[in-house]
Amino acid sequence: MSRIYNFSAGPACLPEAVLQQAQQEMTDWQGCGMSVMEMSHRGKEFMSIAAQAEADLRELMAIPDNYKVLFLQGGASAQFSNVPVNLLRGKKSADYIYTGQWSKKAIAEAKRFCDVNVAASAEASNFSVLPAQSEWCGDVPLVADLSSTILSRPIDVSKFGVIYAGAQKNIGPAGLTVVIVRDDLIGETVPGMPVLCDYKIMADNDSMYNTPPTYGWYLAGLVFAWLKKNGGLSAMAEVNERKANKLYAAIDDSDFYANPIDLNCRSWMNVPFTLANAELDATFLSEAKAAGLVTLKGHRSVGGMRASIYNAMPEAGVDALISFMADFEKRQG
Ligand SMILES: Cc1ncc(COP(=O)(O)O)c(C=O)c1O
Repeated sequence: MSRIYNFSAGPACLPEAVLQQAQQEMTDWQGCGMSVMEMSHRGKEFMSIAAQAEADLRELMAIPDNYKVLFLQGGASAQFSNVPVNLLRGKKSADYIYTGQWSKKAIAEAKRFCDVNVAASAEASNFSVLPAQSEWCGDVPLVADLSSTILSRPIDVSKFGVIYAGAQKNIGPAGLTVVIVRDDLIGETVPGMPVLCDYKIMADNDSMYNTPPTYGWYLAGLVFAWLKKNGGLSAMAEVNERKANKLYAAIDDSDFYANPIDLNCRSWMNVPFTLANAELDATFLSEAKAAGLVTLKGHRSVGGMRASIYNAMPEAGVDALISFMADFEKRQG
């Protein structure tokens, strides 16, 4: 069977070339006679895989030397608590921007450790626009949950204190979480916290204080190498912008599909849209599936559709979705 276009928000599709390489290396990694899954994380083979992955990520994102790169477990959600635990450093409050369901969870978790000041909120607009005027952003480290955005375009890492991302969207398989943290921010956790929350301990042990998610780390490394081979993040940004613009244009130009998000707040990675008649949702999904376009159902809190179009979604997949949408509208609209 040929591969279908999977628009899942995560776990999301991976580059086919990466999957093929992983398949080739599955039982015997580069002549060592075993799978990466079976290797000791402290053996020289895995150490070389781990180091190469980190070096490639540093190169791709131009991560300055004063940042640690951690390969952790626990998902992005674990960072909802790890961030305050590591960054409060004796302070009693933190500013948050409330942009939707994930920041809601991050805020709830932070409230366990400090006072939370919601410095800007998109709630009043039902999360379709973030007020430009925010009191937020004093001389404090900026923290970003880039689970969807990471690697989709160049970003200036030096503007951030911490960047974190669950791997299952734009990095690799679920089970790995990448944390990029400025090294002066670590080393003083909230007293009494579990050792596995401590970025400094993880950094001092090269993310191997305990057994790391070795296979996810390896696959992430293959994705980083694939990104480098395909021109790096500027090249990705060009394709991603084109993919997103054409999908938004298809939605905006029709009376049948709608996307309520303010133009300045739209994501290149996750494109939600609704049908004029929600009763057609199920038919849309089943016909899309029959056309090889899957996992388009919107988040359960929002309904409608969502197409996640990360790096690994080929432009041809977006084109196929757009023609399917036009055809569906012609027949049902
Ligand atoms: C922005 C953001 N943060 C956090 C999460 C949760 O990630 P995890 O399941 O890795 O904890 C997601 C998952 O979709 C996400 O999109």
